[in-house]
Order: sequence, then C-alpha cells, then structure tokens
Amino acid sequence: MVRAESVYLSGRAERISGIPDSERHAAVVRITHWINALSFFGLLVSGFAILLAHPRFYWGEAGAVGTPSLLDLPLPFMKGGPSGWGRNLHFLSAWVGVLNGCLYVLSGILTRHFRRDLLPSKADLGWGSISRVVSGHLRFERPGVETSLAYDVLQRLTYLAVVFVLLPVMIWTGFAMAPAIVSAFPALVTVLGGQQSARTIHFFASDLLVLFLLVHLTMVSLAGFRNRVRAMITGRGAARVEHT
Ligand code: HEM
Repeated sequence: MVRAESVYLSGRAERISGIPDSERHAAVVRITHWINALSFFGLLVSGFAILLAHPRFYWGEAGAVGTPSLLDLPLPFMKGGPSGWGRNLHFLSAWVGVLNGCLYVLSGILTRHFRRDLLPSKADLGWGSISRVVSGHLRFERPGVETSLAYDVLQRLTYLAVVFVLLPVMIWTGFAMAPAIVSAFPALVTVLGGQQSARTIHFFASDLLVLFLLVHLTMVSLAGFRNRVRAMITGRGAARVEHT
C-alpha cells in the first residue's frame, strides 16, 4: 500500500510518479452514485416542502394540532403551501432512488464490490487501526494518499451503514406511510407502532443522512475535491499529493 505524508494544504495536485492511473470506480457504481445524488437532492427539497405543511412530530398511530407532540419544529405551518408539488417530486425521486439503489446493491453483490471495497478486513477492525483513523479525522488531517486508492476503515463502515441501514430504514418508513402499500402489508407500520411513529423515524433518519452528506462532502473536499469527484465521474484515478 502506498504511504505519503498527509499535508493539509489546498492547491495544485500532482501525481505520484510510478503509480499509474487505475480503475477506481466501476461504471455501475459511478452511474448509480450520481443518480442517487440527484434523487437525494429531489427528496431533500420535496421532503422539506412536505414538512412545511405540518412541522410537528408525534408517536403512535395518530397525531394532530391540539394533541401532545414529540417535537415541534420552529417552522410555520403552511397549509396549502408547497406540499402539492412536493409530494409529486418526493414520490418520483423516491422511486428513482429505490430502483437505482436496487441496481447498485445487486451489482455490488454480483461483482463482489461490497466484499472487496466496502467490507473492512479483520485487521482494519482492530482497535489500533480504528483509533489511528479516528484520531486522524479528529485532527482534521487531510486523508492520506492511500485513501485515493481504497477506502479507509471509517469510510467503509460509514458507507455500509448508509447503504444497508439508513437507506433501508428510509424506504421502510416511507412505505409505512403509503396507504396502498400498508393495506397490502399492514405489518410494515404496526411493528413501528403506527403511522406517526413511521413519520418521526423517517424524519430522524433523513437528518442522519443529511449529516452524512455534510461529512461526506467535507471529507471529499479535504481529500482533494477535484481529484475525487473526477475519479467518481471518469472512473480513473491515481495516487496524488497536493501542493500549494
Ligand atoms: C453532490 C454530492 C456528492 C458528491 C460530490 C459525492 C462525491 C463522492 C465521491 C468523490 C466518492 C468517492 C470517495 C473516494 O474516492 O474517497 C463518493 C462515494 C460514495 N458516496 Fe458520494 N457524493 C455525493 C453525494 C452522495 C449522497 C447523497 C450519498 C448517499 C446518500 C452518497 C453516498 C456515497 C457512497 C455510498 C459512496 C461509496 C460508493 C461505493 O464505492 O460503492 N454520496 N461520493
């Protein structure tokens, strides 16, 4: 594995000589990643528009103005506001995201991408290895050059949590709020404690995804935004160091 000093400087990026450009991300990962980013943006904007119709959260089956709430967001109620187009865009983006996600997961299993690139090795899961990576992140160290060739252990665990925990929770709780789906599979909502519980879990899971996105973009920027995004677009990348 290639090692280089991590330097926390922005500017010109230079290839490390002797390390050729290599296939960094497969086409299916790149295409599904950018479709996912688009659908996520659509979901975020439309989700906020829907939220404005009733910015309060409850637990259980029912909840309304005048009944006790779990959380009141400091936002105005906008009845008859943007929630009409919001719902249409939300359903469209959600279905694009679900179908695209199924393609990503299926191909990740068939091509062994998850096993090879996302599943951490036993050695990487050791306390020493994890604490080294965590302390580097806490000191806002620029990610080492080795992470332009393979994900570090925290990236792997985070991506796995997003793909196999947070996104499935979003889909499940989203389905649990859809009357047509719930009438066919009532257990989807009853195990969660009711429709309002599903809505509340949906909201908190979406907050975690927004937090992930902020950290994701910060880490990509620290690692060298142009190089990493270029590799996610063209598929090819090489180990690089950055100079002022
Ligand atoms: C405009 C927004 C985004 C940008 C610029 C971006 C950029 C990137 C880049 C450059 C990588 C490769 C990281 C590396 O090589 O170290 C990556 C990977 C990844 N991103 Fe994003 N991303 C964006 C939005 C999102 C969103 C919204 C999600 C999910 C909710 C997401 C989930 C992932 C995942 C799971 C991977 C790993 C993919 C794999 O290898 O299977 N990204 N992203």
